[in-house]
Amino acid sequence: MAKKVVERVQQLKGSIKVPGDKSISHRAVMFGAIANGKTTVEGFLPGEDCLSTIACFRKLGIEIEQKEDLVTVYGKGWDGLSESSDILDVGNSGTTTRLMLGILATRPFHSVVIGDASIAKRPMARVTSPLKQMGANIDGRHEGNFTPLSIRGGKTKGITFTSPVASAQVKSAVILAGLQSEGVTTVTEPHKSRDHTERMLKAFGADIQENGTTVSVTGGQVLQGRHIVVPGDISSAAFFLVAGAIVPNSEILMKDVGINDTRTGIIDVLQAMGAKLEIKNERVVNEEKMADLLICASDLTGTEIGGEIIPRLIDEIPVIAVLATQANGTTVIKDAEELKVKETNRIDTVVHQLKLLGADIEATEDGMIIHGPTRLHGGQVESYGDHRIGMAMAIAGLVSNGPVEIEEIEAIDVSYPNFFDHLYELI
Ligand code: S3P
Repeated sequence: MAKKVVERVQQLKGSIKVPGDKSISHRAVMFGAIANGKTTVEGFLPGEDCLSTIACFRKLGIEIEQKEDLVTVYGKGWDGLSESSDILDVGNSGTTTRLMLGILATRPFHSVVIGDASIAKRPMARVTSPLKQMGANIDGRHEGNFTPLSIRGGKTKGITFTSPVASAQVKSAVILAGLQSEGVTTVTEPHKSRDHTERMLKAFGADIQENGTTVSVTGGQVLQGRHIVVPGDISSAAFFLVAGAIVPNSEILMKDVGINDTRTGIIDVLQAMGAKLEIKNERVVNEEKMADLLICASDLTGTEIGGEIIPRLIDEIPVIAVLATQANGTTVIKDAEELKVKETNRIDTVVHQLKLLGADIEATEDGMIIHGPTRLHGGQVESYGDHRIGMAMAIAGLVSNGPVEIEEIEAIDVSYPNFFDHLYELI
């Protein structure tokens, strides 16, 4: 297992292009695989999670070419998917697991889905339960709540489903099954989660109805392959947005970053804390907004984060916690119980690791409370195999008195394989 040491820097300056959006990259491959005809993807994220999606759909009989960030998927329509003679290994990817189950729910064959040790702990009943209600046969540990899972899809019926959690993975799985189910499928969630599925399905020619936090589709829909341009991932940009805000004298420009409203909670938080952030050159590509983001160092003030904003920044909370250690006053993060079922229990891992570095931070039942500003002293931490914990710790190292030594750093390859190249370019 690899280690990395990150030390305090005087400033970060320059321009980077963060890698493609992970959520959009997964969807481009999956929707291309069930569409009729060729789908070409530009700006694909060649991180381990999205490569797992490619590997799974190749096993399901789809020809997919991938060279760095360019991908071609030769879709043959829904019936072009075929039974795999091998297990489908999702690696560390929750999105691959849950969205693929939604697709497999209507396919009349047997599949076995397995992932790594982190995936084995993540709750799957949130998707297997509605998919079973629709008529799919799914089994697995704890009655289909944990991998390994086996699924035999077939003729399914539309349902009206109210999800107890705001989750794009749940919403997407049920909607994908709904596209090939009898009648209408409706999903309502407590707050709006990221809507890349709705936007991209429309780009592939599907008819999707949206009303507030409710999404509906009618069955029997086929998709048509197309060209997809993937914007930069705001969840990856978040690490350098925070670094630029907290490392004195910094100025970082990030080009072509996706700024879909369901993902920009980090921008709202930075602005509420007083960060100097400019959004430039805003445009829309394939139904998705993107822009260039310029962040400069400034004084920051603590803030309160909770309610509907949580799904809009859920993946950014580890690095927001680092940001809060450098802000004046108290930052409260609440309503974020979902952190407990991410790649790690991110309430525990963030609080524990930042405490080791000297932060004044405490865990709560649904989030954390951070008092700042603190001059972190550095120390030894771990990623716990969680890419976003590894990167958050690296950003903490940039403002710590002593070095921060991070174990199991290879986890970062899941979503940002060139993270350290970008960091060194900016120093
Ligand atoms: C994702 C949705 C979110 C997010 C994950 C990616 C997606 O999870 O945390 O990193 O691509 O749909 P939930 O849908 O479980 O909230």
